[in-house]
Amino acid sequence: MSFNLKNIKSQPQRVALVTGANGGLGFETTRVLLSKHMRVVMACRDLDKGAKAKQKLLDHYPEARLELLPLDLASLDSVRNFAEAYLEKYSRLDLLINNAGVMVPPYKVTEDGYELQFQANYLGHFLLTGLLLERLTSTEKSRVVLLSSKAHERASINFEDLQSEKNYARWKAYGQSKLACLIFAKELNRRLRRNDFQTIAVAAHPGISNTGLFRYFPKWFNQTLGPLLSPFISHPPEKAVKPTLKAALEKNITGGSYYGPTGFMGFKGAPGKVQSSENANDESVAKRLWKVSEELVGFKYLDSSN
Ligand SMILES: NC(=O)c1ccc[n+]([C@@H]2O[C@H](COP(=O)([O-])OP(=O)(O)OC[C@H]3O[C@@H](n4cnc5c(N)ncnc54)[C@H](OP(=O)(O)O)[C@@H]3O)[C@@H](O)[C@H]2O)c1
Repeated sequence: MSFNLKNIKSQPQRVALVTGANGGLGFETTRVLLSKHMRVVMACRDLDKGAKAKQKLLDHYPEARLELLPLDLASLDSVRNFAEAYLEKYSRLDLLINNAGVMVPPYKVTEDGYELQFQANYLGHFLLTGLLLERLTSTEKSRVVLLSSKAHERASINFEDLQSEKNYARWKAYGQSKLACLIFAKELNRRLRRNDFQTIAVAAHPGISNTGLFRYFPKWFNQTLGPLLSPFISHPPEKAVKPTLKAALEKNITGGSYYGPTGFMGFKGAPGKVQSSENANDESVAKRLWKVSEELVGFKYLDSSN
């Protein structure tokens, strides 16, 4: 049966956390979760943008239980502070939607010394998930959803230059970060199973949707070619969030699976299971990436020896 949000029942007892909830797909994901009466925490790095987005959502859903908390994934301190605030306030976490991301920015090193895309898209979410793990595993039927991308398909993890110090190629670094998210979802799910937790981890990608993600594209592209191609190769956020929502909300989802649009080239169309690359399924790479990530964030969880 095809995925239809109308078949998803109201879930007022559940709590969801969405990173990057102030715009694009995160905003739309939050809106749908509120429409199902979930309590939602918006994790945003810019509190002004976050407050405006929150107000817009409250205009739609005045009764919504919606909270805004500061989270900058490009700062490990911010991730730790966020997790502390969350753990203090909430006794459960049903859905962790690791959605926030940045695409092809100019080369930038974060305050922690890591390449921006690697940290904001992947490493920050790796730490966040670890710090919130206890809440997830103690909440029945909880799920973690990671946002990947078609850009993962030609990517690899360059352990020799993980932070692009020797050579920064924007697309390569973006692809690597999105591959890392997909590998993380699969490895997280394996480790959850080995440790006998019921929480599952799933990955999704939206295809192509014209959001703020394209802010670092050349102006000429965004003003001319982009709008021309858009009707053929992209779909609006309301449709692009469906793979994420399917992964998060549909019954009988298998942990470790990957969802995306099933139409033309995987750019748009109805959500369904999609293929991940060979690199995404390489368990030795996954194990190595996990270990390196633990070292980079200074936090260990879900030991693979169990
Ligand atoms: N749109 C697409 O075609 C597409 C395709 C494949 C995958 N994706 C994935 O979908 C996810 C959502 O992207 P989108 O299209 O909705 O893009 P978007 O409109 O640019 O939204 C990205 C969100 O992430 C937030 N963010 C960026 N850096 C952050 C940081 N350091 N800490 C916390 N939040 C941060 C942004 O906050 P600010 O507003 O403050 O910048 C924004 O809320 C991303 O993971 C992206 O890789 C999108």
